[in-house]
Amino acid sequence: MDDNQLTRPFVAPDKKSALACEDVSLEGLARRYGTPLYVYSAGHMAARLELFESAFSVVPHLVCYAVKANSTLAILELFVRRGAGFDVVSGGEMERVLAVDRWAAARTVFSGIGKTAAEMDLALRAGILQFNVESEGELELLAERAAKVKKRARIALRVNPDVFAETHPYISTGMREHKFGIDIRRARAVYRKAGKWLEASGVSVHIGSQIQSAEPFGAAAERVAKLVAELRRDGHAIRYVDAGGGLGIEYHAEKAFDAEAQVARYAAALIPVVRKLGGVTLLLEPGRFLVAQAGAILTRVLYVKKNGTRNFVIVDAAMNDLIRPALYQAHHEIVPVGPRRGKRTMVADVVGPVCETGDFFARDRGLPPVKPGELLAILDAGAYGMSLASNYNSRPRAAEVLVEGKRARVIRPREKLEDLLVLERDALRK
Ligand code: LLP
Repeated sequence: MDDNQLTRPFVAPDKKSALACEDVSLEGLARRYGTPLYVYSAGHMAARLELFESAFSVVPHLVCYAVKANSTLAILELFVRRGAGFDVVSGGEMERVLAVDRWAAARTVFSGIGKTAAEMDLALRAGILQFNVESEGELELLAERAAKVKKRARIALRVNPDVFAETHPYISTGMREHKFGIDIRRARAVYRKAGKWLEASGVSVHIGSQIQSAEPFGAAAERVAKLVAELRRDGHAIRYVDAGGGLGIEYHAEKAFDAEAQVARYAAALIPVVRKLGGVTLLLEPGRFLVAQAGAILTRVLYVKKNGTRNFVIVDAAMNDLIRPALYQAHHEIVPVGPRRGKRTMVADVVGPVCETGDFFARDRGLPPVKPGELLAILDAGAYGMSLASNYNSRPRAAEVLVEGKRARVIRPREKLEDLLVLERDALRK
């Protein structure tokens, strides 16, 4: 995989050719499997994981892929095969990891502010690596459940370091007023309450998502390191520092982005802190960085119309397939799959068929003139795309295809309408 593919895997070999994913034609995939269609490059995901592995190779570490970014089983399997661990935030995500490889539990951390007793029991029985505990109430319940199922659990408190990270307000998490974690100033007192069924083995932190600069990660790690030193003095054998996820990517094609340099900066911010502490394994929870740019949605243009002065390109994918533009005003590049034509551009809103004004993929976007029937690719959709998809407007969720070299296989078939109705049919009066 060359450098270009490492950054963006959906490329045309030259101006006269159509877009491909690895060695597979996107037009061919759309014809065979229909649209909207999620397509992922396995090689790209593997290469991204490898970037992490090599950047952190100088310290003991474990990459725990954040399952929420894309939880499709074949993708978890791809990471399991390469030795990754997982970060899960629900019993459902835990079950997904177990379905792929039950031994992967030993490399799984469980985060989230609302773990239920049933979810704790599942993770305790599976023997996970660490619970990232986010409140005193949770600590008490976990101690109770551990005693009940007779499984000792390793815990880290997820501390809130009060570090500001420049990102969208909905995905910033490390400030005191956010709902996440435990105020770092109170952490020592809470660790003291661990009791005999819980082993205080780590400290965890996660300051937010889509963070482009390495600086806040370093600042948070420094604060965590200070706490680790104090906890060790208090007698806790802290062996894990979980630095969370959050490393950002570049969604704008015109802005330069070097994935390798991005990880290198991130590693440079974290590694010295870990080295200075000594005796710890660094846990990392990247989600987006590993899968976002590996994925695209293929969608067909249904209609092109003009209302007043605005042009609308109506496509067959919608906000139920990819909600990021509607929810975070996120930017996704949209490109025609066919060979590139002249420079003439139209300015249009690219919208889906859902009955909401918020159902758009782009506004005032410059595009080459497109016609009904034409295939477009919405790029960088591998993270928080399918995992946030819904059945709104009773739209079956899209199929997913994983490409490996010349091979493409369906890893989740397109939902059928009957899949959507089946749970409700029994309620009909006969
Ligand atoms: N660890 C924890 C505890 C998290 O809460 C998250 C993301 C991650 C790891 C992974 O973060 P990443 O490396 O992917 O940035 N739906 C939003 C992103 C929500 C992120 C939630 N937590 C989006 O589409 O931008």
